[in-house]
Amino acid sequence: MFEFGKLLSCDVCDNKVLLNFAENKARLEIIRDDIINVFCGFECDEHNSKAIENDVAVPTQFTADFSDGVLTLKTKCVAVTVKDNMLIDFADTNGNILCSDTDCERTVEPSLSEDAIKLMEQEGHIVTPPKSDYNIFVRKKVFGDEHFYGLGDKLSPMDKKYYQFTCWNTDEPRTHTEAYEALYKTLPFLITLKDNGVYGLFFDNTYRSVFNLCKENENYFWYGTDNGNLDYYYIAGQSVADIVGAYTYLTGTTPLPQLWTLGYQQSRWGYITQKDIEDVAENMRKYNIPCDAVHLDIDYMDAYKVFTFNSTRWPNPKKAIEKLSDNGFKTVTIIDPGVKAEDGYYIYDEGVKNGYFCTTPEGENYHNVVWPGDTVFPDFSNGKVRDWWANNIKFLTDNGVSGVWNDMNEPSTFNGFMPDDIVMNDDGKKSDHAKMHNVYGHNMSRATYEGLKKHTGKRPFVITRACYSGSQKYTTAWTGDNQSLWAHLKMAIPQLTTLGLNGMSFAGTDLCGFSCDTTPELAARWMELGVFFPLCRNHSANGTKHQEPWCFNDEVVGIFRKYLNLRYTLLPYFYDLFYQGEKTGFPLMRPLVFRYSSDPVTHTLNSEFTLGDSILIAPVTNQGENFKTVYLPEGNWYDYWTKEKISGKNMFIRSAELDVCPIYIKENSIIPKFPEQAYIGEKEIDNLKLEIYGDNCEYEHFSDNGSDFKYRDGEYNLYKFTYKDGVFSAKLIHDGYAKKYKTLTIKTFEKEITVDFADNMKINI
Ligand code: GLC
Repeated sequence: MFEFGKLLSCDVCDNKVLLNFAENKARLEIIRDDIINVFCGFECDEHNSKAIENDVAVPTQFTADFSDGVLTLKTKCVAVTVKDNMLIDFADTNGNILCSDTDCERTVEPSLSEDAIKLMEQEGHIVTPPKSDYNIFVRKKVFGDEHFYGLGDKLSPMDKKYYQFTCWNTDEPRTHTEAYEALYKTLPFLITLKDNGVYGLFFDNTYRSVFNLCKENENYFWYGTDNGNLDYYYIAGQSVADIVGAYTYLTGTTPLPQLWTLGYQQSRWGYITQKDIEDVAENMRKYNIPCDAVHLDIDYMDAYKVFTFNSTRWPNPKKAIEKLSDNGFKTVTIIDPGVKAEDGYYIYDEGVKNGYFCTTPEGENYHNVVWPGDTVFPDFSNGKVRDWWANNIKFLTDNGVSGVWNDMNEPSTFNGFMPDDIVMNDDGKKSDHAKMHNVYGHNMSRATYEGLKKHTGKRPFVITRACYSGSQKYTTAWTGDNQSLWAHLKMAIPQLTTLGLNGMSFAGTDLCGFSCDTTPELAARWMELGVFFPLCRNHSANGTKHQEPWCFNDEVVGIFRKYLNLRYTLLPYFYDLFYQGEKTGFPLMRPLVFRYSSDPVTHTLNSEFTLGDSILIAPVTNQGENFKTVYLPEGNWYDYWTKEKISGKNMFIRSAELDVCPIYIKENSIIPKFPEQAYIGEKEIDNLKLEIYGDNCEYEHFSDNGSDFKYRDGEYNLYKFTYKDGVFSAKLIHDGYAKKYKTLTIKTFEKEITVDFADNMKINI
């Protein structure tokens, strides 16, 4: 472990305080009043962050005083003290220490003997001896009342206390359970909630790292890694929402997507031919299931060669995709990173000629095996390779493809793991797989984003499996190979709300489950929940029971239709949340602790979430249950189906027959709705409906062309609607886009009226 020793002196240099320890130098960097960076350049002097791309520090007033061997630094929000051995305390402005390094005795479990390991392995156990010594090691005191949230897609419940996690992007084909330390994504950002405060820690280091959150000892938690810099951000705030806002200030927010990407998407590994996809599209319309996109999994390619179509299965891709588009379907194609090593294949030849693939330390292209067999791997950490990949996206967009699904980009390999010393070129600096592994998916998504942007001019729709902090700027994410299990339906809530707290707001799980066979009841319950996921895609594996809507009995088809129609009517609500989210960094799916952290019930509530602040979803996630135990936090709420008013801070049982997902609307909300549509853009939407829940409501509604970047130049309209004591008013607060609405429908509990739309109006209801 790197040591620091005595703190000898401190120097203030612009927004940094340089810390001269007897054995190492470190620094504190004041990013904003609420964000302090702790840095020790073991590998290099500057950050070299893949997550934070802009210069984020703003001029901030602070005081720094070094006396009696202790540095005391204060901003408007945080007081930091640094002592010998780099022991740091972060306190709030009242002097409450929230986050404190500790050097108390450790309680490391003795390692298992080799014999014991061998014995266990004979029965098939996978034994990974725990590693507890790291070169870079930060250990923080636990005061006893901590809850830990974050760390991305990891599978444990929402509160991560007592678990250990490894940040090493991992394709995990076994049944996902909370026992796994690593999964596809690396989001090393943790929110710690205590009775007297909340704070965030973002460890910006791409090497394999481990978080032990009181598993070793409940008196402390630790972070460890062997390489790179010590580079972490302490984030102060009053609420969980503040911490998420500051984290996305650093790493970027999820941008407004194209409107169609919020529609229902149908996928399956097993649609082999053009005809298979055409049938799916036709059935969607035949069964009146709203749907906006079909996905082409690996079988559309020629021998799994990226940027090709199999000419037997897809004789005329351009024409077929055009036909789908005429029927209101966008086409999304999978693209894996692995390139088939085959002379004469243009992508391989170009990559070899230009040195675009990862190499062995001896300089040979590194080969492994993925779907195409013998495979090489583009080095996405090299900007030239990203540009090349972005240009290749043109092959897809020329054929009419609207979105790209990036899979296997951990990267996943079938013939053993890619060794750590495989050589990569980090935008001009020699680097290796150990450092670039966790950003491989991030850089691939970035290249895909740039390609789609360049070749379509639209807001790129990219889906990724692997990512790193900051990937939200370029891509949506799905949670990989889940299974058609009740446990996985349940798991989707903590998994997706956690991704949201970690900036990955546009995310979803494979609806109805990827592997294993779904059942009609499971599929129905999954859809009732899944229509509220930002990314709403039904995907399944080859060989499993088909789970397109019409593969179920009439009752279940009806449930698909009912809930997808509900989603389509709620599209303006989803889209408004995305618009706000681009500014605030706030997720769409919010665990209740996001807004109600002073209510202890919310701290470990894994079974519900809110969509924005106004809609609370409490789905049934157990077989055979036709009821749900619901908890409503403070305030009054309305049952969406019965309109019954219910006071919050209240736990009760709601009956929920198979077609009922309990939904609650917060008092004083306005919920905007569009008419039902078979697909987005089927109808010119000229009516906006506002459902009013209460006597004192306010709502901001955004409208634009739903596809390109012109909104960033002001081409949008923003309306403010209010309803107070029986008077409704509308105000156009930003006027920058063609007016689409002709009528406005206002629905209160008592009345529903439709009036001509005017940008500014006042009506007595
Ligand atoms: C991986 C993906 C899955 C995809 C399959 C075939 O397992 O996670 O979604 O269908 O590969 O491409």
